[in-house]
Amino acid sequence: MTAALEFDNVWKTYKTGKIEEEVLRGVSFTVERGTFTAIVGPSGSGKSTIIFLAAGIDTPTKGTVRVLGEEISGKGESWRRKWRRRNIGIVFQFFHLVPTLTALENVILSMELAGTPGDRKARARELLEFVGLGGKEDKYPSELSGGEQQRVALARALAHNPPLVLADEPTANLDYENKVRVVKLLREAASEGRTVVFATHDPELVQGADRIIRVLDGRVVEE
Ligand SMILES: Nc1ncnc2c1ncn2[C@@H]1O[C@H](COP(=O)(O)OP(=O)(O)OP(=O)(O)O)[C@@H](O)[C@H]1O
Ligand SMILES: [Mg+2]
Repeated sequence: MTAALEFDNVWKTYKTGKIEEEVLRGVSFTVERGTFTAIVGPSGSGKSTIIFLAAGIDTPTKGTVRVLGEEISGKGESWRRKWRRRNIGIVFQFFHLVPTLTALENVILSMELAGTPGDRKARARELLEFVGLGGKEDKYPSELSGGEQQRVALARALAHNPPLVLADEPTANLDYENKVRVVKLLREAASEGRTVVFATHDPELVQGADRIIRVLDGRVVEE
C-alpha cells in the first residue's frame, strides 16, 4: 500500500519584499498509514509550513509532496482545494473557524464540503459532545475561549472521516482534562488506513506518538 504522506526533497522559500527566506531546505520523510506521527522542533523551524504543504494549502518551491499516493504538489489551486475537502482534516494553529457560523455549523460545513453521507447534524452534535462542548453548539467562535475554539476545530477536522488528519499544536490552550479527551480522539483517529500527523511542543503528546520527525532549521534531523 502507498504511504499516507511522502515529502521528497522539499524546499520552501518565502519572499518578504526583497528578502528571501529558505524555510524548508530539502525535507524528505515518509509517514506510513495508520500511524500517529509527531513533528517536533523549535519555534520557527518549519513545522506549520510542513503541515500547510501536506494539506495542499501551499506548494513547495522545489521537490514533491505525495499524499496517499497522489502527487499534490504539482496540482493547481482549485484541484487542491477540492481534493483537500475530501482527503484532509486540519486543525490550524490559530483555528480558522468560520466566524459567521456557530460551532455546530462549522462542524457540519466540513461534512457538506466533503459530501459526507448520513445525519450530519447528529454526527456534529456527537463530536462536539465528545470534545466537551455539549451545550455550546450554538455559540459563535467569538463567544468561545481559545481552548473551546480549538476543540471545535478538532471536531471539524474529524467530522468527514478524512484519511489524513493534520493538526498543528492541537493541545496548546487546553487544560488537562480536555487535553486527555483530544489526545484520545486523535489517537483513535489514527487507525487502519487513517493517519494523524501533528506538530507539537507538548512533551506528553510526543511521548504517545508512534513516530517522531524532528525538524531543525528547515531540515529533518532525525526520524
Ligand atoms: N507566509 C509567510 N511568509 C513569510 N515567511 C513565513 C511565512 N510563513 C512562515 N514564514 C517563516 O517561516 C519560518 C517557519 O515558520 P513555521 O510557521 O513553519 O514555524 P513553526 O515550526 O511552525 O513554528 P512554531 O513552533 O512557532 O509554530 C518562520 O521563520 C516564519 O517567519
Ligand atoms: Mg507552527
